Amino acid sequence: MKRDIISVYDMKDDLEDIIELSIKLKKDRTIKFSEKKILAMIFEKPSTRTRNSLEVAMEQLNGHAIYLNPNDMQIGRGETIADTAMVLSRFVDIISYRAFNHNDVVELARHATVPVLNALDNLEHPMQIVADFMTVYEKKHKLSGLKLAYIGDGNNMANSLLLGASILGIDISIACPEGFDPNPEILRQAKEISLKTGNKIEITREPRIAVESSDIIYTDVWVSMGEESEREKKEKIFMPYQVNEDLAENANKDYIFMHCLPAHRGLEVTSGVIDGIHSVVFDEAENRIYSEKGIIYKLLS
Ligand code: CP
Ligand code: NVA
Repeated sequence: MKRDIISVYDMKDDLEDIIELSIKLKKDRTIKFSEKKILAMIFEKPSTRTRNSLEVAMEQLNGHAIYLNPNDMQIGRGETIADTAMVLSRFVDIISYRAFNHNDVVELARHATVPVLNALDNLEHPMQIVADFMTVYEKKHKLSGLKLAYIGDGNNMANSLLLGASILGIDISIACPEGFDPNPEILRQAKEISLKTGNKIEITREPRIAVESSDIIYTDVWVSMGEESEREKKEKIFMPYQVNEDLAENANKDYIFMHCLPAHRGLEVTSGVIDGIHSVVFDEAENRIYSEKGIIYKLLS
């Protein structure tokens, strides 16, 4: 049976194992596939980290990655996602898909006979989560019992962090403006998981409450890809949710600052924080390679 990773929920039973494997693959670069494996990467939206880290990950694993822009494919002229999935499944061993619409990723996975990875959509960003919590583990030497404060938009990152933190037993407090809460179905799933792992989940309008006694402060862009027309409106609403030195004073002294990147200094985070001593954003970005190696190695070997 092939296994897809469309949501962080798909890793609810082995997220910690995948993180451990990723750390092992970071330490031992000699671990590779015995036979070459091919990844097809469909990108409907731009990418610096996901695309390049996947290419590097595949090269390091004795594999190869093919970049596919839907505008250059027949899908851009109306070929169905189902047919695309069935054809690509005859060519490659695994497919990643960065899509505007979550349902399109689900549709591709439904028809593909090889594993499908969600490389970000409007609802989630599961591959980022493995890199994020791998980085937390490297910095804090533990996962369960920590507190993560997410400040900003209840977007794909907030949704995936909610699930990831809950699976790993990390308390999570999300501060977002009214109307920008995380997805209710994902919140329900996170609460269901937290019944087992015992982590606390809090949604507040007050960044200070979220950051209080936190070990990790996380933020993301206020305007996600595809929302450019809402920029002006959102920037006004979100200004009180900026992560700055004053807000960070409320976190634990040894807090780490995280951001999936790309970042906008002076908007969701000040340079004082993202370029300061608490920031781990570039270690986090580097770990995209090893976490993707972990995920792909787990699914294909
Ligand atoms: N964090 C992340 O997914 O970055 P890219 O959009 O550059 O891939
Ligand atoms: N929320 C952002 C994440 C970028 C990696 C977006 O979807 O654009």
